[in-house]
Amino acid sequence: MASIGKRLEGKVAIITGGASGIGAATAKLFVQHGAKVIIADIQDEVGQSLCNELGPKNILYVHCNVTTESDIKNVVDTAVSNYGKLDIMFNNAGISDDKNREILNYDSEAFKRVFDVNVYGAFLGAKHAARVMIPNKKGVILFTASVATETAGESTHAYSSSKHALVGLMKNLCVELGQYGIKVNCISPGAISRD
Ligand SMILES: NC(=O)c1ccc[n+]([C@@H]2O[C@H](COP(=O)([O-])OP(=O)(O)OC[C@H]3O[C@@H](n4cnc5c(N)ncnc54)[C@H](O)[C@@H]3O)[C@@H](O)[C@H]2O)c1
Repeated sequence: MASIGKRLEGKVAIITGGASGIGAATAKLFVQHGAKVIIADIQDEVGQSLCNELGPKNILYVHCNVTTESDIKNVVDTAVSNYGKLDIMFNNAGISDDKNREILNYDSEAFKRVFDVNVYGAFLGAKHAARVMIPNKKGVILFTASVATETAGESTHAYSSSKHALVGLMKNLCVELGQYGIKVNCISPGAISRD
């Protein structure tokens, strides 16, 4: 591979949902660009083997269920104790409820589960990242939203509304955290093949 610039040299990043898919691809790219990365996920074996593949010096796996505040607190504190700071919090973990379609048959508990991971989990990530970024007066907080925030009828009601909620959270946080030099943004991918 041709050599790439080290655009993240010296940066410290947490990637939730970093054991697979978009999060794992981001972890690889961030390491290539010189970042120290912490993968925060619930797939312990998959996450650990990705770390082994990418080399133990620059990447660490921490078990973290994003819906549990003590887990999120722990992973943010691990970044600070291991690497001295947190520059990038990528709140990427997300789930869907593909079987649900029509409102009359909708599994209400599934709706709540999707919001728990996609919205509450991302909120917790932002909250604890801000806790350590505000004193440093810099940092980047990212969310993985979706093209479902721009289209209608293609995703489930829970998924679509959870991703809309993330955009609202992102915009509100921009207003609050801009004064501290913290940038907040969303990435909104279209459908990505898992192959
Ligand atoms: N793949 C797509 O086409 C697509 C399109 C738009 C948006 N997205 C979004 O991208 C993000 C990543 O999705 P992906 O396609 O890579 O899927 P994926 O299933 O490969 O990755 C999601 C990761 O999140 C982790 N995760 C799930 N629940 C968790 C929890 N409670 N705590 C911690 N980690 C948890 C999973 O273990 C997994 O590693 C999601 O937010 C998803 O909604 C995906």
